[in-house]
Amino acid sequence: MTRVLVLQGPNLNLLGTRQPEIYGRDTLDDIHRTLEARAAELGVEIALFQSNHEGSLIDRLHERDFDAAIVNAAGYTHTSVALRDALLAVDRPFWEVHLSDPWSREDFRRVNFLHDIAAATIAGHGARGYTEALEQIAARFGAGA
Ligand code: DQA
Repeated sequence: MTRVLVLQGPNLNLLGTRQPEIYGRDTLDDIHRTLEARAAELGVEIALFQSNHEGSLIDRLHERDFDAAIVNAAGYTHTSVALRDALLAVDRPFWEVHLSDPWSREDFRRVNFLHDIAAATIAGHGARGYTEALEQIAARFGAGA
């Protein structure tokens, strides 16, 4: 079965109450329950991981126990050479997801250390973006890969 790691970066644990006008009212748990349900329908296995710490996100990637990843690196998207290096080092395709569209926000969010190495980027679709990424991964890998 295709194994998908969902890697969630800093402050995403506060979804639901964090700037809902930008990020929506779904909590991270809501997003994860929806993803689990869709993964079951698609026949893919998912592992969910959120951390506010750069090193913890990198350590999780180093476990290399997945075929593809869905990565919302949140603020680290715009700052982290180390996370970029880890994604390259583990050599697994990843789908970059953002709830909002960082390119239409402050200038500093246009700096992006992950975009050019992502298999695809889905931004500005809200929580639905995660499901879209999962569906694209399932289509790419098939349920049984
Ligand atoms: C985000 C966008 C980032 O710019 C921001 O730092 C986040 C969330 C998003 O999902 O829209 O924390 O990745």
